[in-house]
Amino acid sequence: MRSHRCGEVTESHLNLEVDLCGWVHRRRDHGGVIFIDLRDREGLVQVVFDPDYQAAFSLAETVRSEFVLRVHGKVRPRPEGTENLNLTTGKIEVLATALEILNKSETPPFPLESDIEVSEETRLRYRYIDLRRPLMQQRMKMRRDVTRHLRNFMDDHGFYEIETPFLTKATPEGARDYLVPSRTHPNHFFALPQSPQLYKQLLMVSGMDRYYQVVRCFRDEDLRADRQPEFTQLDIETSFMDEQAITDLMEVMIRELFKATLDVELPEPFPRLSYAEAMRRFGSDKPDLRILLELVDVADLLSDIEFKVFAGPAKDPEGRVVALCLPGGAELSRKDIDDLTQYVAIYGAKGLAYIKVTDRSAGLDGLQSPIIKFIPGEAVLEILDRVGAQTGDLVFFGADKAKIVNEAMGALRLKIGHEQGHAKGAWAPLWVVDFPMFEWDDKDQRLFALHHPFTAPKCSLEELQWEPQRALSRAYDMVLNGTEIGGGSVRIHQTEMQEVVFKLLGISEEEAQQKFGFLLNALKYGAPPHGGIAFGMDRLVMLMTGAHSIREVMAFPKTQSAWCPMIDAPAEVTDFQLRELGIRLRKPPIESKGD
Ligand code: AMO
Ligand code: AMP
Repeated sequence: MRSHRCGEVTESHLNLEVDLCGWVHRRRDHGGVIFIDLRDREGLVQVVFDPDYQAAFSLAETVRSEFVLRVHGKVRPRPEGTENLNLTTGKIEVLATALEILNKSETPPFPLESDIEVSEETRLRYRYIDLRRPLMQQRMKMRRDVTRHLRNFMDDHGFYEIETPFLTKATPEGARDYLVPSRTHPNHFFALPQSPQLYKQLLMVSGMDRYYQVVRCFRDEDLRADRQPEFTQLDIETSFMDEQAITDLMEVMIRELFKATLDVELPEPFPRLSYAEAMRRFGSDKPDLRILLELVDVADLLSDIEFKVFAGPAKDPEGRVVALCLPGGAELSRKDIDDLTQYVAIYGAKGLAYIKVTDRSAGLDGLQSPIIKFIPGEAVLEILDRVGAQTGDLVFFGADKAKIVNEAMGALRLKIGHEQGHAKGAWAPLWVVDFPMFEWDDKDQRLFALHHPFTAPKCSLEELQWEPQRALSRAYDMVLNGTEIGGGSVRIHQTEMQEVVFKLLGISEEEAQQKFGFLLNALKYGAPPHGGIAFGMDRLVMLMTGAHSIREVMAFPKTQSAWCPMIDAPAEVTDFQLRELGIRLRKPPIESKGD
């Protein structure tokens, strides 16, 4: 049908007769001549219809946006002064000698120009049209380039791609499961995998040595810009490699990926931060290192003062008091500061104290603040020294339980860092390591695994039992520009250790047998030391394309309420289907699913 793709015709094809197929991006009538920008996956080409070729010209007069055409014509240079250097095809045009309308189109629900604002629901309802937009086509291409590159890397390094089941049993990755009722086993349900974690460990027990899979994972959790109910992981597991060897190899993979697809040189090696240091300096276990601002602890200077807002958390072992210096921040207005106070309130902060440094050389007289009257002068000056505050700067304070301070001041750091121009460089990858094994949950009064319960501790079995809350794990996260793009660990490969971890997590022996008996058994039959990692492909491609949400790099994503407006899923099923599955609904179905 065609000799070339539209976007691929260039000066090298001058005077050639070509056949092109594509969609009408735009039609312009210019005093007896018709111009059509014909579009396909590779781009646009300008086709000219001249009345000299009467049949083609007459037909061209009838075409509308998004008609599908086949054009026969001759490539010629564009007249001088009409070249478009933004297009690869911008120096040429095709003089059409024949035209065939392959299909008509109704007026599309929205124009396909990339910069036109269209509601996300409309875009998702007509996703097949939305995906025609050149920007979306570029994103899908980037996704294919990234996947292909990573697959090649895995293949070249001796990893086997092995598929694992979707109809399976719950694996604890911390989210709710999507359940699938079984017809052949009434009252029983499969769970869709939150990740192939346990299968990949079993493949190591099977001697597969190195495994990978580009695999869909399903998690029923609260959705955000970087979370979807189904998303894709590059899932990896290997035997006989420790955390250093695994993270080294993964770093090479990501560095080569960025070089090959974006021509970007990432740092070698990636910086490594312990979880404790990341929380201390940035209030986050996925710090954005492009931002130069840091949190500074000042509790030691404030524990004995009258001002309860600071002294309380400063004395509380679970409390934290930090200062965050914003260079040039003294220019912020009262309203700016009020807005930021409201912003940190989202994260539970009860206020946002500050000191404006109008003249650093004037000591306490050069400061403006609603709180310095409550703080001894020496402490104020020492704080200013500690954060390196200069004339014109502003120092913010956060005081509360450490969790709230970290979240609120960590978020404030990101916001003012970006908005006030304190970010440096385009790409800041790092490893976060030395996570605690467990986190204590006050509400449930029990320990939770910070990664997952199959992660190996850094300490011995005895030390783990003795002081579980002090134990660190052999886990590692790869973070890029403030987003966790991958996470993994060296695993527990001995039954005793796995049993102890289950016990510490409050999982009884009976429950452990019922849920993970197959794993505990497998570990008894010569399980090799093993470990792995999984990368969030959607997040990686989101960052690499500069998109603001992973929905922008998925062909058919769901909305924020986990609904697909295009096919209207989830949907009701027939009584017959329910009866066959032995299911009776407790409530009548709810009508609207829109966000
Ligand atoms: P984890 O739960 O950290 O680890 O997931 C690995 C990576 O997957 C991405 N990710 C998501 N992306 C989009 N939407 C979601 N809802 C979502 N949840 C996670 C993130 C994350 O870094 N089995 C372990 C891996 C291992 O230990 O090998 C696991 O799944 O980028
Ligand atoms: P208050 O005593 O509540 O009027 O607070 C005095 C100042 O301290 C105000 O600027 C508040 O914004 C600020 N503030 C109150 N609570 C906190 C807190 N937990 N952390 C930081 N600043 C706070």
